[in-house]
Amino acid sequence: MCGIVGYVGDRKTTEILLEGLNKLEYRGYDSSGIAIKSQDNIQIIKSEGKISDLEKKVENSSLIESKLGIAHTRWATHGEANETNAHPHQFGKVTIVHNGIIENERELKEELINKNLIFKGETDTEVAAAVINNCYQKDPIEAITKAMELLNGSYAFGIIFNDQNKLYAVRKDSPLIVGIGTHENFIASDIAAIIKYTDKYILLEDNEIVELSQDGVNVYKNGKKISKKIEISTMSIEEANKGNYKHFMLKEIMEEPIVLQRTINKYINKMDDIFDVSNYDEIHIVACGSALYAGMIGKNLLEEKANIKCITECASEYRYKKVIYDRKTLVILVSQSGETADTIAAMRKAHECGIETLAIVNVKTSTIAREAKYQLFIEAGPEIAVATTKAYLLQVAMFSLIALKAANKKGLEKEYDDILQEAKLLPEKLKKVLNDKNIFKVVGKELMHKDDAFFIGRGIDYSMCQEGSLKLKEVSYIHSDAYQAGELKHGTISLIEDGMPVFAIITDKKIKDKTESNVIEVEARKAQVYTITNDKTLKTHHFKYVVEKISDYFQPILIVPPLQLIGYFTADSRGLDIDKPRNLAKSVTVE
Ligand code: AGP
Repeated sequence: MCGIVGYVGDRKTTEILLEGLNKLEYRGYDSSGIAIKSQDNIQIIKSEGKISDLEKKVENSSLIESKLGIAHTRWATHGEANETNAHPHQFGKVTIVHNGIIENERELKEELINKNLIFKGETDTEVAAAVINNCYQKDPIEAITKAMELLNGSYAFGIIFNDQNKLYAVRKDSPLIVGIGTHENFIASDIAAIIKYTDKYILLEDNEIVELSQDGVNVYKNGKKISKKIEISTMSIEEANKGNYKHFMLKEIMEEPIVLQRTINKYINKMDDIFDVSNYDEIHIVACGSALYAGMIGKNLLEEKANIKCITECASEYRYKKVIYDRKTLVILVSQSGETADTIAAMRKAHECGIETLAIVNVKTSTIAREAKYQLFIEAGPEIAVATTKAYLLQVAMFSLIALKAANKKGLEKEYDDILQEAKLLPEKLKKVLNDKNIFKVVGKELMHKDDAFFIGRGIDYSMCQEGSLKLKEVSYIHSDAYQAGELKHGTISLIEDGMPVFAIITDKKIKDKTESNVIEVEARKAQVYTITNDKTLKTHHFKYVVEKISDYFQPILIVPPLQLIGYFTADSRGLDIDKPRNLAKSVTVE
């Protein structure tokens, strides 16, 4: 995904735009640019690389006086990450920034080239600018409306017309908000970019066009002006900042007890608000990345505790595969952003088949939150680091409560009340684990020069391995694999070399001896074994960290944060840009 900011008002436009881009850099950061407009001309400054590179170019430029501008930070989809392909793109009288994918850009580009139009870059956005320009006579709303009929795919556009002193924007399948200030107005991909100036915003819906001047906000749909509700954001400015932490990722890990408390408080005395899944014969848990791995833990608990058949599937597969809905099925979508394109598509596929959907989501205004039949909101607050931590943990906690409620409803959980009481103590227990963070800092230093790692476990422990492995990979760039402990010996054990780190997650007492024997197998091949467990009787190989043994429902909540910290400190020991890992974006709003 990419980040969009736009401004119209009396402040220094470039300052607002660059500040906003910095707050959105987690959405994509391979190139960026701004376009500012004075009465009769538009100045565009673009840069490959980080926002800081763009800031240097802007500082060294003589800037026009401007009260109106748009800006963009890019995660490349069409065309490589370079200055030419960076946004904004200008074509004729139209300058735009874009988040999304124009799926028929190739046909449109061919048509326009046949009309002797010349393109500078390789992006679908430049094609969109040309289409809007082609539709433009003198009415911007009309031009945008006409262009929307030609453009297929997803978009949030910020648009400036050379001969207009207003800012325009429109969205379809990509998020965009309108910030309402005093004698100034904004557009942004999310509120973090502008919370410093206003907490009032309008959430644009699909196919709504907004026209912004310093003192006016008009929203149009199908060519007609419509009225929109002004929302008040609950995000604080502090939440949009790192505070005293070196990285957002560490800040968000350390926030886990607080946000866990918030989520538990919200539901623990109101378990009626937890969606009841006990009447479904089958549950499909569909998500991407870490959200999928949270769903895997959900599957373990729902099957083991509530006796409900579950499948977990990554959304990019689920959306295209033949899905058999021959029993009373619920599809659970898990998503922090609620804007992941594949997960949205999987949700819409379920709806087309008449299947009910439940969204476990963090961003309440997101597409998945708005379109799913049922919603359970986690209370993670804004999560800025690209590598999810607190949101993932709350997704797991939500599945714990869902499974606990379903097991109880089915008369399968005799210790229901005691387990609920235990949930109230979880944040304190988690705080104790996080207070040991320096132990994991040492582990991070040990991993600093490693090239490969394995995470092994069985059952729910394997599901935790998946997240531990992804965290290490995505922020430290160390190649890592999560493996079912019993499966390693069927080939992959050939990769184990002297000193290779192998993390063994062992919490399931029914099979701890089996996993322990797999640990001995890798140790026999000189692996360096790190055990994370709730069983202090287990042998210490190279390293052992023991968390308090609590109910199966909540055990992952104490086991996974050490893995998150190990990933973080390993990346920190390598001096990497942890909050913005290479090639990644916070939410992948394109296929
Ligand atoms: C998590 O660290 C990754 N950044 C990524 O796997 C993420 O969980 C995935 O893209 C899903 O995002 P979502 O939860 O916003 O749908």
